[in-house]
Amino acid sequence: MSTPIASGMQAAAHTDFLPLHGTDYVEFYVGNAKQAAHFYKTAFGFQSLAYSGPETGVRDRASYAVRQNKLTFVFTTPLRTDNEIADHIYKHGDGVKVLALKVEDATSAWKETTKRGGESAMEPTVLEDKHGKVVVSAIKTYGDTLHYFIERGQYNGVFLPGFVEWKSEYNPTSTGLQYVDHCVGNVGWNQMNKWVGFYETVLGFRNILSFDDNDISTEYSALMSKVMSNGNGYVKFPINEPAEGKKKSQVEEYLDFYNGEGVQHVALATNDIIETVTALKSRGVEFLSIPTSYYDDLEERVGKIDEDLKPLAELGILVDSDDEGYLLQIFTRPVEDRPTLFFEIIQRKGAKSFGKGNFKALFEALEREQEKRGNL
Ligand code: FE2
Repeated sequence: MSTPIASGMQAAAHTDFLPLHGTDYVEFYVGNAKQAAHFYKTAFGFQSLAYSGPETGVRDRASYAVRQNKLTFVFTTPLRTDNEIADHIYKHGDGVKVLALKVEDATSAWKETTKRGGESAMEPTVLEDKHGKVVVSAIKTYGDTLHYFIERGQYNGVFLPGFVEWKSEYNPTSTGLQYVDHCVGNVGWNQMNKWVGFYETVLGFRNILSFDDNDISTEYSALMSKVMSNGNGYVKFPINEPAEGKKKSQVEEYLDFYNGEGVQHVALATNDIIETVTALKSRGVEFLSIPTSYYDDLEERVGKIDEDLKPLAELGILVDSDDEGYLLQIFTRPVEDRPTLFFEIIQRKGAKSFGKGNFKALFEALEREQEKRGNL
């Protein structure tokens, strides 16, 4: 057991070398960025933000950035076949390529992380246009996924140098999504602790929660998970690996279809989950369905909550509590034809946890979907 002094020192040592100000953006490599951007505007309520492509002097790709409150998504597609983006899509299908983190000093972030064993994906690079300059650097994480470090203190443009403002006649209203709460990675058999070690050593994160296969198993399948957090808690990366069960783990299904390790889900925060999910559903976002019996003894399990049970049950929103409060959450179906990336919508009311009390109901719902696909 560590003493309070030792753990205090440990926390200080952990927060020092890589101060993060949250998620800057999430970049997806997709087969058709123009249509993907349209989907996220229509279905999720993002607004057009910025564009780069042949018209702006970029020859090999087109990228569309969209924004909703503090959330920025970028959709990038290759324009030619002899291209690393094309290779990525051939191997993985559509998926998350970059989890970009906001830093004050991208040069220091790169030096500190590569010094600790992080593999460089891009040395610190200055991008400039008439709106100022941005320094970016990058390191590799699990699979073909990258972490970019973005230093934008001296930049006033809409997104990044190289992008032009994307003005559109089509501006659907927001669904109330606010910011990235956490991003979950699926890694291979026996790889979870390796990546936990990577986030501890290279990025100075701490393991704040662990779930073993006793916490996360149904009659059929299992997984293990550890939640990694940076010092101020703005950036949280749970890491999942499959565990042995009677049938195929959902993480294994992901690894099969993504053809390797990658981002399983991105959790998006809202201040009013009932309003947000009602809006998302009416725009065609599909969610996992939960049996109505889940709500029968809900208040006995989680205590008193502010929300009416009726809309929660109608929408299939899950509730869990911890020592500090409760949270409401719901999960979309995969947002592409491969059973890979999906989204979580989450509203926290004090709780800092991840819905452990919902794992069983949730994973049974996932298995019903897996079974329909013939992959259980
Ligand atoms: Fe999650």
